[in-house]
Amino acid sequence: MSKAKSLYSCSACGATSPKWQGQCPGCGEWNTLVEGVAESRASRFEALAADGAVRQLHEVETAELPRTATGMAELDRVLGGGLVPGGVVLIGGDPGIGKSTLLLQALTRLAQAHKVLYVSGEESPQQIALRAKRLQLESAPVALMAEIGLEKILASLAKETPQVAVIDSIQTLYTETLTSAPGSVAQVRECAAQLTRFAKRTGTTILLVGHVTKEGALAGPRVLEHIVDAVLYFEGDTHSSFRLIRAIKNRFGAVNELGVFAMTDRGLREVSNPSALFLSQHAEPVAGSCVLVTQEGSRPMLVEVQALVDDAHSPQPKRLTVGLEQNRLALLLAVLHRHAGIAAFDQDVFINAVGGVRINEPAADLAVLLAIVSSLKDRPLPEKLVVFGEVGLAGEVRPVQRGQERLKEAAKLGFTHAIVPKANRPRQAIEGMTITAVERLADAVDAAL
Ligand code: TYD
Ligand code: MG
Repeated sequence: MSKAKSLYSCSACGATSPKWQGQCPGCGEWNTLVEGVAESRASRFEALAADGAVRQLHEVETAELPRTATGMAELDRVLGGGLVPGGVVLIGGDPGIGKSTLLLQALTRLAQAHKVLYVSGEESPQQIALRAKRLQLESAPVALMAEIGLEKILASLAKETPQVAVIDSIQTLYTETLTSAPGSVAQVRECAAQLTRFAKRTGTTILLVGHVTKEGALAGPRVLEHIVDAVLYFEGDTHSSFRLIRAIKNRFGAVNELGVFAMTDRGLREVSNPSALFLSQHAEPVAGSCVLVTQEGSRPMLVEVQALVDDAHSPQPKRLTVGLEQNRLALLLAVLHRHAGIAAFDQDVFINAVGGVRINEPAADLAVLLAIVSSLKDRPLPEKLVVFGEVGLAGEVRPVQRGQERLKEAAKLGFTHAIVPKANRPRQAIEGMTITAVERLADAVDAAL
């Protein structure tokens, strides 16, 4: 028998190379290539249709996917309505953010009507039972297994035939077909691939837990993201009690839905109406604060954007954002100077979205700029004001999606004044809300201050 061939894979991005190199050819990181065994078995590439025949799209029989609700509405929202048979979901997040807690809670609810199995490679059955007791969940019929050998887990899955199985975590598993250590790229990828194949073949729903490294990559293999059907990430900072779960990929539903939970002494509690969560309470209006109505998936949310603008003491003024995109800030400051005549080139600018929420949509532009102007001029924005709108390079304020819904949500929470893009002016008046529709950034600044 010939010697097994080696293959070097990058622990950061998962790219492979036949020989060792100092720099990864995929992502350009240094010293990330580690040795693994080249996999030559064709079984890895087993087809999903048995006969490999070509057919017409409209001839393929489909049935509406039956969804299994987990019983936690916020989790179901992110999943697009519930779990799908044969679906594989990766749940990623920092250590200690609450992945095991969430899945234990979801499994005990599912266990009322479905057969479930919790496989833990990190905690002993005693530890899990203790946690269940603390969460006051102990009565549910959840099957437990403490195991890290993939072959044994697959055998148990085949024997127990659960409808939903949790693997906590994928980084602790190892398969005997590879010699590298558990947690290495090759192991994680192979274990996930085999579990996925098992899920597709048997219709078992598998939830994989994955830890995220400090750099934000799923420890080692970003490759998992394309193997699985859905990827959910925990976000929010561990200092606050709120935990946000965002779908960044979902083959069975929409992405960018946000599920909101609060960590309590009795586990994760759902926050079904999070719209006022990301506002801080000021006794009096303060400069540098602007309330934005953002749209997270199907739900509008109010988020306070804070800006601090202060004299810079170095030739390179600081531009820092928390929860918003850093590069966009530099761009917005240039637009502010060019189209509203307000210069900040000698100022440090810090931006923060309150509550650890991350905002990806450009609809935040106008709120960021008004917060900056407010801080720079040290004048508070009017009370009970909400703002949204994208700002273009020509200084125009562009419309955003679902303006009406955003305004209604703000009105519901007692806001009385809104500055919005002209095209987002609602056709019918919204009760209790005065709306200023603007076309240009300069008009918005005038209207606000
Ligand atoms: P855990 O689910 O173990 O995190 P992960 O699996 O993502 O690593 O959560 C651990 C944290 O949650 C721990 O710091 C304590 C906290 N916690 C509570 O605050 N209340 C609870 O009821 C539980 C079970 C955990
Ligand atoms: Mg855990």
